[in-house]
Amino acid sequence: MAKPSQPDPRPEEETVKYDVIDGVAWVSFNRPDKRNCMSPKLNRQMLRVLEELEFRDDVQVLVLTGEGTSWSAGMDLLEYFREAEQVGLSQVRKHQREAYSWWERLRWYEKPTVAMINGWCFGGAYGPLFACDLAFCADEAQFGLSEINWAILPGGGASKVAANLMGFRDAMYHAMMGENLTGPQAAAKGMVNESLPADKLKARVQEVADVLKAKDSQAVRATKWAMRRVMEMTYDNAEDYLIRAQEALNQFGGIASRKEATKQFLDDKTFKPGLGVFDKTKLQKED
Ligand code: ACO
Repeated sequence: MAKPSQPDPRPEEETVKYDVIDGVAWVSFNRPDKRNCMSPKLNRQMLRVLEELEFRDDVQVLVLTGEGTSWSAGMDLLEYFREAEQVGLSQVRKHQREAYSWWERLRWYEKPTVAMINGWCFGGAYGPLFACDLAFCADEAQFGLSEINWAILPGGGASKVAANLMGFRDAMYHAMMGENLTGPQAAAKGMVNESLPADKLKARVQEVADVLKAKDSQAVRATKWAMRRVMEMTYDNAEDYLIRAQEALNQFGGIASRKEATKQFLDDKTFKPGLGVFDKTKLQKED
């Protein structure tokens, strides 16, 4: 007979791995033997790691991936749900806060973020999936709101993520039927930007990270935050917000970057905005 699951005895620090290589922080869910499901330990550690990397000068882009065959199998049914419910409501709330905190931090991260979905992606994992600005998956990846299969509703934002990313009928089907989408199906429905053969995934994400790295970092941050904000605004509010966000960007190096870019286009004729990014290495540093 199969042995019942036991709580994971490993220390918190081992639940998340990261490596900073040439401006890119490669962060991994690191519980491959538990298919990277999110335990309270992992959630606490992920917040620590994100906080550490967010303001480091050597990090320009963050990629979130998973060790082993899974991106993340959602919330840990043993450590996040069953054990907390045995303790009581305050423990349930504490664990929710720990999980939601790092997803929120990631949604509003200073640096551009890319989800690299290498395998399973279930339920609660839709929180970090949506939190990442861009998402690329392996064709073999599988996406599911499996909540309905074990008699709960897709909470923790998962319903909202499906409703935001997919059309109404697709989101409803996805949430009610508990059937998984393959990588190409997820891409066709707007859950991810692209689905690729597994052996091409990392190279494509590296290529995207390299493009992002070359952009003006303040403009990238202002752009990604603007896109998230305007999704929930009326047209008029969005128009007004964008004027103010651009004016705020001007205060933080935006004017200098824009002047240099305009000069490279109009005077030097060394670049065309329609065909690529200006050379930010020519910017005079003002400290
Ligand atoms: N919670 C707790 N333990 C999990 C979870 C999870 N979400 N996912 C996997 N595990 C554990 C398994 O219990 C098993 O542990 P054990 O070593 O103690 O037996 C180990 O990870 C390996 O899992 P297997 O099921 O043996 O791996 P397999 O590759 O055959 O299947 C799959 C992978 C399909 C992801 C399966 O593990 C699964 O269905 N997991 C649950 C997915 C899910 O529905 N998550 C919850 C979504 S809803 C929410 O997040 C609120």
